[in-house]
Amino acid sequence: MTIKAVVFDAYGTLYDIQSVASITDAAFPGYGEMITQIWRIKQLEYTWLRSLMRRYDDFSVITRESLGYSLRTLGLKYDSSVFEQIMDKYVHLDLYPDAKRTLTELKQYKLAILSNGSSNMLNTLVRNTGLDAVLDATISIDSKRIFKPSPEAYSLIEDCLGVRPAEVMFVSSNPWDAVGAKSFGLSTVWIERVSPQAMAEACQNSDLVSPLTMFKALRMQMDELGVGPDHRVVGLSALPEILSSVSA
Ligand code: 2OP
Repeated sequence: MTIKAVVFDAYGTLYDIQSVASITDAAFPGYGEMITQIWRIKQLEYTWLRSLMRRYDDFSVITRESLGYSLRTLGLKYDSSVFEQIMDKYVHLDLYPDAKRTLTELKQYKLAILSNGSSNMLNTLVRNTGLDAVLDATISIDSKRIFKPSPEAYSLIEDCLGVRPAEVMFVSSNPWDAVGAKSFGLSTVWIERVSPQAMAEACQNSDLVSPLTMFKALRMQMDELGVGPDHRVVGLSALPEILSSVSA
């Protein structure tokens, strides 16, 4: 198998979406973790619901609407400046510490992001974090008006990079995304950041399961959808080895 392109999911894979918790907690002390988890859970849910309803709106709108939902649900009052301050973190998310180094080590491949993010928010985030220097393309699903894990979204990789599905290694830490890419026909790496053992321990060790533990249980464990990823790794830095083993 010849892999020509390595394509990454953005939010949760290269970028740590949990890094919004510092801003949400500064804005609403004590509520940061709860806001952060409800926000992401609802944001994803809205992408799938809007796709099913054929009511596409871009990810920046969905991200705003799901943040509004989270604050309203928790009974928190806010003005527009607090709301915009939280939203601004989405274009300044923290990169995972091994992201830049891994991308640099993979520079013999075409490197791209394929994300549900809107073109504008993705391009701003990529520029703000310096990934524009290492990526060949930042692909938003915007032009298809349907979100991953729809096959139409993954088909953009071939349209934009000119590589066939068999020549692509797709990398995601989002289980639903790794499964979606595999189901479409891409080779996939799932980044398993929370092992089943760590998950079980987190549940056993807390009297009250925390919002973050709940998030890990809902959104960071491999799904049961009849298809699974080709590879499992614990971090981005394992990718060069996986790629050289499949290309050998
Ligand atoms: C993405 O970046 C939403 O994490 C998902 O496409």
